[in-house]
Amino acid sequence: MSDVVTKRVRERDKRNYRHIEVRPFAPNLGAEIRGIDLAEGLNEEQFEEVHHAFLDNQILFFKEQSEIPPATHIEIAKMFGELHFHPAAPGMDGYPEIFEIHAHAKSKIANGEFWHSDVSCDEVPPLGTMLQIHILPECGGDTMFADSYAAWETLSEPMREMLDGLHGVHESEHVYRGRYSDRGMEDEGKVYPSARHPIARTHPETGRKALYVNRAFTTGIAELAPDESSAILALLLAHAEHVDFQIRFRWEKNDMAFWDNRCAMHRALWDYWPAERKGNRVTIKGDRPS
Ligand code: SIN
Repeated sequence: MSDVVTKRVRERDKRNYRHIEVRPFAPNLGAEIRGIDLAEGLNEEQFEEVHHAFLDNQILFFKEQSEIPPATHIEIAKMFGELHFHPAAPGMDGYPEIFEIHAHAKSKIANGEFWHSDVSCDEVPPLGTMLQIHILPECGGDTMFADSYAAWETLSEPMREMLDGLHGVHESEHVYRGRYSDRGMEDEGKVYPSARHPIARTHPETGRKALYVNRAFTTGIAELAPDESSAILALLLAHAEHVDFQIRFRWEKNDMAFWDNRCAMHRALWDYWPAERKGNRVTIKGDRPS
C-alpha cells in the first residue's frame, strides 16, 4: 500500500480550554489532559470541556492522576452515558460495572491483544472506555490506538462508494468462549453476542464517518459472497491498522485513558510477561451503529 494514500491533514478545534490543559499527543490523534485530578470527580464545567476534547481528539490520556476510587470512576463514566456491562468478563467485587484488566505470571491471556473496538459484537456496542492503570511492569504494556476516521477518509472514492451500505459481521464466540474460566466464569450453554454493523459508521455526535471493522470481532461482510468477503475484509483490516493511523501510548502509574470506540481501535501489548499489569476499566454504552 502506498504511503501517499494514508496522508491527510487533521484540523483540530481551536477552542480555548479554561478548566483543563489539552496537548496534542500526535499530529492526528489523541491528546494529553492535565490540570484536573479525576480522583476528585468532574464538575459540570470540566465535564463539558473533557467531552469536547474527547470528540475532537478521539482518545484522551489524563496525566498526573491519583488512583481513582471505584465509585468515583463509575460516577465519572456515567456522566457520559449509561454504563455497559461486559458480556463475558466478571465485574469487580462490589462494583460490577468495573472490569479489572489484570495480567500476571500465571495469566493465560491478556486483554485486547488484537486490534479491536470494544465489544463491537454487541448490537449496541460501547461508546467509550475509561481505563486507569495502577500497576505497571517496569517497561512494556503499552497500548496502541488507531484512527478509524482516517482509515475511512483515505480509502479511494470508488472503494467508499462500494462499501457504503454494506455491513460487517461481528462475532464473539471465538473470542470469549472459555476466556475467563480462570476467573470463575463458567459459560457452558451461554450464547455470546453477534451483530451486523455498517462498515461506514457515522459517529452520532460528530457526524463523521469511520471505518468500523476490526480484527478481533469482524468475521465477514454480510452482503458479499464468501471469497469476496474474505478478500475485501482482509484489505480493510490491513488498511485500518496502517502504521500511519496509529499512536502508541506508554503508560505511567495512574494514567487514565479514555477512548472513543466509535472512531478508534486499540490493541494492548502483552510483552511484559511474567510481570504484572493491573487497572480498572469502565465502559459506557453507546448508540446502535448507523
Ligand atoms: C482493553 O480494554 O482492550 C485493554 C486495553 C489495555 O489493557 O491497555
